[in-house]
Amino acid sequence: MDGGKVKTAIYYFSGTGNSLKVARDLAGELREAKVIPISEAIKYKEVKPEEQRVGIVYPVYMWGMPLIVANFINKLKLDKDQYVFAVATYGGMPGNALSQTAKQLEKQGMCLSAGFGVRMPGNYTPLYGAVPAEKQQEMFECEKEKVKEIAKFIQAADKTKIEKSSFLINLIFSGIIYKLGSGKMSQMDKSFWVNGKCTSCSICEQVCPVDNIKMVDGKPQWQNRCEQCMACLQWCPVEAIQYGKKTINRKRYRHPEARVEDFINAASK
Ligand SMILES: Cc1cc2nc3c(=O)[nH]c(=O)nc-3n(C[C@H](O)[C@H](O)[C@H](O)COP(=O)(O)O)c2cc1C
Ligand code: SF4
Ligand code: SF4
Repeated sequence: MDGGKVKTAIYYFSGTGNSLKVARDLAGELREAKVIPISEAIKYKEVKPEEQRVGIVYPVYMWGMPLIVANFINKLKLDKDQYVFAVATYGGMPGNALSQTAKQLEKQGMCLSAGFGVRMPGNYTPLYGAVPAEKQQEMFECEKEKVKEIAKFIQAADKTKIEKSSFLINLIFSGIIYKLGSGKMSQMDKSFWVNGKCTSCSICEQVCPVDNIKMVDGKPQWQNRCEQCMACLQWCPVEAIQYGKKTINRKRYRHPEARVEDFINAASK
């Protein structure tokens, strides 16, 4: 099926590089593939990729799918013969994210052919610091293997089961917590604040994928349309951005191969 003719479009959303890394690695395995930031694609009224395979790669948020990904799917227009796959990166449990993707596609008259989870280091500093470097390395080794497996499935145009957590986990976390919490995400930036280390470099403003930060008198101000991706907090070069009271001494996390330019370009206005 491959032979260099079949092309793949991989749309990704990423705050700290895990999903970007998976998207790039998959593109490398599949060849003849391009990666496109969802933050850019979503600016169009419709997204109509012509490639035969279309991938959606994103991080799990609150055991579900980020809202920007759901909005992106609403703009997606695909033909019945296009093969659609999704990959959700997650720190602990994928929950129901991929089933949500399948449902959202179905609502729009499309079908998810296969959905895969890839465990990566967690990036939600409001709850925990970065996992130790050694543990990160182990996860990166597993990621490489998993991406190879995923690429094989996709190349065979296999329709696999959609990966998800257990029924009980999905009922409690993805069902109750996601339903209650996801609608509040946009306002959760009210807990961000900036300390005296801020140098007014405006990197936080530039990396925000949804233009949610405005520099006012040289300091960031959050505009209450947040995706909670943590890019601003993680990419601040002097760790001036805090969330609530507990992040000051927590170790930040970014995928070691991700560069700030990847995020500035993905968010370019
Ligand atoms: C707002 C938010 C919520 C998260 N919720 C979950 C979760 O419910 N389950 C989980 O396993 N990881 C969760 N994580 C961790 C991310 O899914 C994980 O680190 C992901 O690989 C980050 O990808 P990125 O670097 O492409 O942004 C969450 C991260 C953020 C920022
Ligand atoms: S990235 Fe950090 S130092 Fe730069 S403006 Fe934002 S908060 Fe200030
Ligand atoms: S304000 Fe920060 S956490 Fe919210 S979407 Fe922008 S970069 Fe992500």
